[in-house]
Amino acid sequence: MTDLQGKHGLIVGIANKRSIAWAIAQAASAAGARLAVTYQGERLEENVRDLSEALTDPLIMPCDVTDEGQMDQLFAGIEREFGGLDFVVHGAAFARKEELTAPFVETSRDGFATALDISAYSLIALSRRALPLMEKRGGGSILTLTYLGSERVFQNYNVMGVAKAALEACVRYLAADLGPKNIRVNAISAGPIKTLAAAGISGFSSILGVYRERAPLRRTVETAEVADAAMFLLSSAGRAVTAEVLMVDGGYHATGM
Ligand SMILES: NC(=O)c1ccc[n+]([C@@H]2O[C@H](COP(=O)([O-])OP(=O)(O)OC[C@H]3O[C@@H](n4cnc5c(N)ncnc54)[C@H](O)[C@@H]3O)[C@@H](O)[C@H]2O)c1
Repeated sequence: MTDLQGKHGLIVGIANKRSIAWAIAQAASAAGARLAVTYQGERLEENVRDLSEALTDPLIMPCDVTDEGQMDQLFAGIEREFGGLDFVVHGAAFARKEELTAPFVETSRDGFATALDISAYSLIALSRRALPLMEKRGGGSILTLTYLGSERVFQNYNVMGVAKAALEACVRYLAADLGPKNIRVNAISAGPIKTLAAAGISGFSSILGVYRERAPLRRTVETAEVADAAMFLLSSAGRAVTAEVLMVDGGYHATGM
């Protein structure tokens, strides 16, 4: 079992009990980490506060990744409470409904900018703020969540595929920048899971069906399985792994016909 005793982590991206970020929070907490968890807007505050009752002494703070001031306050709060930071989990992503239903060629300038800002740039914004806190701990691990739509075309994934391609490139550039400080940056590319974010993609259920039929493991994956893989990357077990996109998708990515 992973040991995160004495470690402090930040988890961004919990919306409800189905969130991948929540599964990772539960696993990290069970491994002994003390966590800061965030909610995006008042709409989700109650969910996150209710779920966090299962965590040990969590720091609960608002964080909309488009709000620089809120991010500054979050990291000031973390520094005050934890004195440093060992890991960050970035599970924030968003694209407007129009962008996920209309043909890709109709993607608006504004919709493109919003999706890329929230889903990709935010990793840079969080990493920059985490850097001085991780330096205090002699290093750290930053983890984000991506999807195969970055490399292959999935119907209606549209601008999110472009955002995930940018996100994966950010992982590599951040890993190169922060590696000399012993800060690792990785992504998990998860297979499709029915979450709030997934519900925004039209025809999502049919994607699940294709994975069940064609993935080598002949099934979809669960959030707890993504969390187990996350524990590897967040803990010392993954200490030589950086700039990596780890596929946790039952092997679907390797299939042709
Ligand atoms: N569900 C899947 O099939 C799947 C597969 C691969 C990757 N992912 C990725 O996993 C991550 C988590 O998604 P999920 O499926 O658990 O869904 P989710 O809806 O539970 O999580 C998405 C989170 O993004 C947050 N978010 C959106 N806009 C934000 C903003 N402006 N500021 C801060 N937070 C914001 C939401 O509040 C929510 O907590 C996303 O990056 C998603 O793309 C999901």
